[in-house]
Amino acid sequence: MLMLMQLCSQRSILSSKVLLSSFRRSFYNIDYVSAMLPLFRVSNVTVKYRFCTRFYVGVNNNMSTLSNDNASMHLRARRPYQVVVAATHDMGIGKDGKLPWNLPSDLKFFKQLTMSTSDPGKRNAVVMGRKTWESISPLYRPLPGRLNVVLTHSGSFNIASLENVEICRSIHLALELLAEPPYCSSIEKVFVIGGGQILREALNAPECDAIHITKIETSIECDTFIPAIDLSLFQQRYSSQPLVENNIQFSFVTYVRVGNTSF
Ligand SMILES: NC(=O)c1ccc[n+]([C@@H]2O[C@H](COP(=O)([O-])OP(=O)(O)OC[C@H]3O[C@@H](n4cnc5c(N)ncnc54)[C@H](OP(=O)(O)O)[C@@H]3O)[C@@H](O)[C@H]2O)c1
Repeated sequence: MLMLMQLCSQRSILSSKVLLSSFRRSFYNIDYVSAMLPLFRVSNVTVKYRFCTRFYVGVNNNMSTLSNDNASMHLRARRPYQVVVAATHDMGIGKDGKLPWNLPSDLKFFKQLTMSTSDPGKRNAVVMGRKTWESISPLYRPLPGRLNVVLTHSGSFNIASLENVEICRSIHLALELLAEPPYCSSIEKVFVIGGGQILREALNAPECDAIHITKIETSIECDTFIPAIDLSLFQQRYSSQPLVENNIQFSFVTYVRVGNTSF
């Protein structure tokens, strides 16, 4: 354990120096550690290692190197996630604030995927934009059996008092919240479920491990679109037979990040 901690700390410092001297960005992927390690200090950088989290250096945008004495640097853990979405061939996902199709078997697939846990004592989280939250009938929200994380920039959008709901001001803050107690141990998997604004940021991002896409083969008019899956980052792992429901042809396809062996 001691050797592993020393190795991690040396690696973190080295990675930080290389990355921070090279780029001016807010967050840098440091490492993926699938082991439970205690909180400890590396120089003046606080590092938290937890099961199933990824580590990023948060640094003020005006500072680019560790040699800057004033650099306020911290490492933050973020939960990786999977995306679940249904999209047409040209990546249309919505129309007039609603789903442009009626596919009960897709809703069933979504429910099964996002509800299932290998540990019956845990549940999953679904992360969504404020408009997607509002597109769900009040009768069915929050989506039961899952922690609902709603993203909004608005301070006046107050539904956090609802049970099983968290409000976050950014995707990064949501993933950090889910990497912290109590959620780091009570939430098994995190699913980002839309809509368009959220997936434009989240679909091909480094924290995205897998994409479950229901490919709608029938042409249907949409007004909300997401980017194409970056096939240099993701490879197809599974595809169902073509299915037809309500005259709409579709199939379930899963893409997994290249090199990710946990699926
Ligand atoms: N086909 C599918 O699988 C699927 C899945 C989900 C949704 N949809 C469809 O997609 C459409 C909704 O998508 P949309 O793009 O209009 O809206 P959306 O992504 O669901 O929500 C957009 C809102 O989320 C908040 N937001 C966006 N980016 C944020 C960020 N980085 N940090 C914090 N908050 C952020 C903002 O809320 P504030 O304005 O409150 O700040 C923004 O107005 C609907 O038609 C819905 O039916 C389809």
